[in-house]
Amino acid sequence: MTIRTKITGTGMYVPDRVVTNKDLEELMDTSDEWIRQRSGIVERRYVSEGQLPADLAEAACRQALEAAELDADQIDCIVLATLSSQADFPGTSFFLQERFGGTLPCFDLRAQCTGFLYSLMVARSLVASGQYQRVMVVGCEVHSTGLDFSTEGRDVTVLFGDGAGAVIVEANTDEDDRSDILEVRLHAEGKYAKKLWVEAPGTGLPGRITQEMMDRGAHFPSMQGKFVFKHAVTRMPQVLRETLDAASVKIDDVALFLFHQANLRINEYVANHLEIPAEKLRNNIQRYGNCSAASIPILLAEAEREGILKRGDLVSMTGFGSGFSWGSAVVRW
Ligand code: ACO
Repeated sequence: MTIRTKITGTGMYVPDRVVTNKDLEELMDTSDEWIRQRSGIVERRYVSEGQLPADLAEAACRQALEAAELDADQIDCIVLATLSSQADFPGTSFFLQERFGGTLPCFDLRAQCTGFLYSLMVARSLVASGQYQRVMVVGCEVHSTGLDFSTEGRDVTVLFGDGAGAVIVEANTDEDDRSDILEVRLHAEGKYAKKLWVEAPGTGLPGRITQEMMDRGAHFPSMQGKFVFKHAVTRMPQVLRETLDAASVKIDDVALFLFHQANLRINEYVANHLEIPAEKLRNNIQRYGNCSAASIPILLAEAEREGILKRGDLVSMTGFGSGFSWGSAVVRW
């Protein structure tokens, strides 16, 4: 890679509607205590009626553009990571692109909770190759409209929230500016695709979904939680180390670690295993739950706004999710 890449702006948006664990107690057999103990989550945000994924993505993107001091017409491409597309087709990115006008190319990228890191790899490659000058990457999820709010779905439903986070990736041609997306490493293991998935609708099914499937809730996410947990705590440290090694960076040199927000216990386990001090790990799952592809860019945007992220710092980001998919990135901010 000859052209260095820099994240010049971040943005985030979560809907106003706060849904607490206590609110979920009204809908299903669960408890605030169970949810806090197992996942660390206290509350999450849900869209209001009529609020669309493109609304969330647009708000996050406009913030990122403002932070980067750019207009939308200066962007060359939009990459939108999501598992909860606004329509079956086209992808959410097209409904977002409409908000900015023009003929800017855009596409959706589907790698679930690792979607932002996959998208960052794509954006970095597009910019570093000289193909584009500026790529807008946005992770956006509306989970709340597709969850099972009966007791049957409680293991998955309590974990998820809605939100969007965005970054602008630009070419860095300033010799004196060391900012760079230094390394991104990605992996997948499709043999475990059905350990965390939504079975229907699917093009392999007659009529894409049957009444029988609706009746047994095949259109809701299903997860083998313990299985996912075990793989997450194994794969995340592996890929984090692989990425830092590839960039010749030591764990001690990293100023800030941002992990996907699936479960606070997963993140604490990984941090302990790698001897990462608590003050270098930032979580927001307590407030937002698991926002899949949006979790890491929301963390980034919050860290930047709170002055935790400083130019020149090394930031490590790591995620694991459905697919299975996992990955890590290290950035000199
Ligand atoms: N409220 C109350 N009780 C519940 C709930 C709930 N919301 N959900 C499950 N339980 C019950 C179960 O029925 C079970 O009861 P039983 O013992 O009587 O059978 C008991 O609690 C324990 O359930 P487990 O599933 O064994 O609980 P566990 O300690 O494994 O925690 C959890 C579950 C939090 C889901 C955990 O497995 C986990 O975090 N898994 C990983 C999630 C993840 O990383 N997902 C990937 C990202 S998502 C993406 O990519 C889309």
